[in-house]
Amino acid sequence: MNENLTIIEHPLVRHKLTLMRKKETPSSSFRQLLWEISMLLAYEITRDLPLQEVSVETPVCRTKAPLLSGKKLALVSIMRAGNGLLDGILELIPAARVGFVGLYRDEETLEPVEYYCKVPDQLENRLVIAVDPMLATGNSSVAAITRLKEAGAKDIRLLSLLAAPEGVACMKEAHPDVHVFTASLDEKLNDQGYIVPGLGDAGDRMFGTC
Ligand code: URA
Repeated sequence: MNENLTIIEHPLVRHKLTLMRKKETPSSSFRQLLWEISMLLAYEITRDLPLQEVSVETPVCRTKAPLLSGKKLALVSIMRAGNGLLDGILELIPAARVGFVGLYRDEETLEPVEYYCKVPDQLENRLVIAVDPMLATGNSSVAAITRLKEAGAKDIRLLSLLAAPEGVACMKEAHPDVHVFTASLDEKLNDQGYIVPGLGDAGDRMFGTC
């Protein structure tokens, strides 16, 4: 039981994730599934956003109805694989500001190396949803979130399609204030730092590279 972790177990999420795991699923289908699943995940990660009643005039009468209130949202893609999750979320929250943190994983050390960072202003006043499909060692996500905090972010959630127990523990240790949302907590990492059973390299699966 980890109070910093929410596993989104909606049947549609579980179904689409299984299709994404299959190694024979081509990039085009993988991208389509990622787009669909990211909307479902966005639905869950925003479930508790505050609302306020406003007065509206329908064609029938005047009534009170809820609108989102509170902090504005910023979505931050941890590149490059984060971009695949971003598109579907933006479909649901088109007004969100968007940032990018570019990190690649040094294949020998498995440590993240930053090559790009551009984030919206006033991060301190926003709810920041960082997106990284694979929370594996956790090193990249932890580094990206450290960078977001340096830029002022105070209220941060992390959305990962898949998480390994090692990554969740690493995040909890480095950033105990960051709540992690994922579609699955997989079994472990292998010696190459891949999530097991996982789905392989998310960026490669998305873009057909390898
Ligand atoms: N990054 C990926 O894309 N896949 C993994 O399994 C681990 C890290």
